[in-house]
Amino acid sequence: GAPVEVDISKLEVGQMVRVEWRGKPVWVVRRSDAILKELGGHDGQLRDPSSEEPQQPMYAQNEYRSVKPEIFIAVGICTHLGCSPTYLPDSFSEQVSGVSAGFFCPCHGSKFDMAGRVFAGVPAPLNLVVPPHTFLDDNTILVG
Ligand code: FES
Repeated sequence: GAPVEVDISKLEVGQMVRVEWRGKPVWVVRRSDAILKELGGHDGQLRDPSSEEPQQPMYAQNEYRSVKPEIFIAVGICTHLGCSPTYLPDSFSEQVSGVSAGFFCPCHGSKFDMAGRVFAGVPAPLNLVVPPHTFLDDNTILVG
């Protein structure tokens, strides 16, 4: 499949844009400073907080799992059996107390934080996959 260009010039804080790449949904989310701060606070509840499992690109192996802290990019497919998790920008604390936003998979209840890191105790074995991507300029991302 051909690489896909994503224009994020109009992407507001908290918003997600979805594109399709190689037949898969890819999410791009602009995270707030508050969310970035929150990401450091629940490592103990995560299965693989540092993304050490294989199949993660190098630029996913940092605190934010991203090239730029505020821009999170992931393949929007649950690492359990392939459903697409739901983005809960406001009500995720109903799933994990103390965590305000994240992704919830309706199929079997897997939960991921705003860096796509899977919480322990759910069926999904791995963090969400960060696809290969590069920034062509501040507002344009090439996925693939
Ligand atoms: Fe997501 Fe099973 S497919 S929890």
